Amino acid sequence: MNKDQFIKKIVCIGAGYVGGPTMAVIANKCPDYKVTVVDISRKRIEAWNSSQLPIYEPGLRDRVEKARGKNLFFSTDIDAEIAAADIIFVSVNTPIKTFGEGAGKAVDLQFIEQTAQRIKKNSSSPKIVIEKSTLPVRSADTLDTILHSGKNSVRFEILSNPEFMAEGTAIRDMEEPDRVLIGSHETPSGHAARDELVKIYSRWVPEQKIITTNLWSSELSKLVANAFLAQRISSINSISALCEATEADVTEVARAVGCDSRIGKKFLNAGIGFGGSCFRKDILNLVYLCEYYKLDDIAQFWQAVILINDNQMDRFVSRILKTMFRTLVDKKIAVFGFAFKPDTGDTRNAPAIYICKRLLEEKAHLSITDPHALPNAKKDLDGIDEGVKYIEDPYEAVKGAHALVLLTEWSEYCGLDFQKIYDNMKKPAFIFDGRNHLNHRKLFEIGFNVYPVGKPSLTHI
Ligand SMILES: NC(=O)c1ccc[n+]([C@@H]2O[C@H](COP(=O)([O-])OP(=O)(O)OC[C@H]3O[C@@H](n4cnc5c(N)ncnc54)[C@H](O)[C@@H]3O)[C@@H](O)[C@H]2O)c1
Repeated sequence: MNKDQFIKKIVCIGAGYVGGPTMAVIANKCPDYKVTVVDISRKRIEAWNSSQLPIYEPGLRDRVEKARGKNLFFSTDIDAEIAAADIIFVSVNTPIKTFGEGAGKAVDLQFIEQTAQRIKKNSSSPKIVIEKSTLPVRSADTLDTILHSGKNSVRFEILSNPEFMAEGTAIRDMEEPDRVLIGSHETPSGHAARDELVKIYSRWVPEQKIITTNLWSSELSKLVANAFLAQRISSINSISALCEATEADVTEVARAVGCDSRIGKKFLNAGIGFGGSCFRKDILNLVYLCEYYKLDDIAQFWQAVILINDNQMDRFVSRILKTMFRTLVDKKIAVFGFAFKPDTGDTRNAPAIYICKRLLEEKAHLSITDPHALPNAKKDLDGIDEGVKYIEDPYEAVKGAHALVLLTEWSEYCGLDFQKIYDNMKKPAFIFDGRNHLNHRKLFEIGFNVYPVGKPSLTHI
């Protein structure tokens, strides 16, 4: 399509885990829209324009290659792209503040404010500005105020369109979403802007799955969705501790409980706790908002979800220490998996970071293996990784190890030759399966001492 024939120009500010994949999907589904993703990071944009995309996500490369150069573009020319845009998605990062008021809880909105200022400065035609980033409820007020301040008479309509995709299944989640949520001002211009966005999604999403609400419900729903998901993980993990104390099996309990259709089966796998860039941050933000509105008991309820998650990682390390005769000094531990979940190279807030740090404090030597996350693991452990080796081949990683500690449930780990692994390990050989991912009975029969989460251990000692 000739570039002048595009019916609308979309710009996405922020070429990260959300901006890149969402825009690749929109570009594929809407070949008559010009989609440009911009970022302040030249390195990231160069990677999006190369064959080595900056993030790993199944199906992403194919979507990018199909549309790139046709109606999908990656650029650092932020000002020019803003000026030309009809619709702007804001998908910049919204981390937790590490300084000043609200440190450790409130969202650091500096990137959002910088983006809003830049949109205002470079706009001379009306635009729809869409919050794709996860933001505290009522952030659209802030955006409205910044965009409409001063002399500029350009009209901006703000929408909230939070992203519910999960890393590892991002493309599928975007192409076949459970729902698309669009919040708008309840005004004629708000509804008109909302309809523009509905028009885009309805190219591939059934209309009954496109939910429209007011702005504040939409902003809050994203935080609540993540809080509920994380709460389920903490709920089952809290029960895993009780299972370990009583010889109940958490998988059996989860199955029995999840069969109740009011509860459901999903997100009831016990493990070492949740990670990723969102759950912790979004719950902390929810806690901060509750405290801000003087709802202290509600803040405490959600804070407990994080507390249980932290305890779960501590319990896991304590169990390793206790089992391995209360000392890890100079013992070699092979760490299988560093990403916060399979099918991604993302390690942000991965339990592996905390667990590896604790193991290193006990003076263990670590050999870490992961199919996609080793570059990030190196960055995460930079400065404390004297006793760490990063090894791609799991068989190499485990040679001479006293224990294998599984932290990410990569499917390829199930297909490994565990007899070969056992033969190459020191004896007694321990496996701590932090994701209940492996065939424990088979491992036990090979000779391993097996320690799952929330289940009786299978040991020869
Ligand atoms: N990663 C997820 O799974 C996920 C899922 C749903 C929602 N979200 C939310 O989406 C938002 C983005 O998350 P992400 O994981 O893509 O973050 P990310 O860190 O991967 O990407 C953000 C990008 O924004 C860029 N950026 C920051 N300030 C900028 C500016 N002023 N101008 C241009 N670019 C700028 C950064 O350079 C970075 O490349 C966050 O609010 C997050 O909470 C993330």
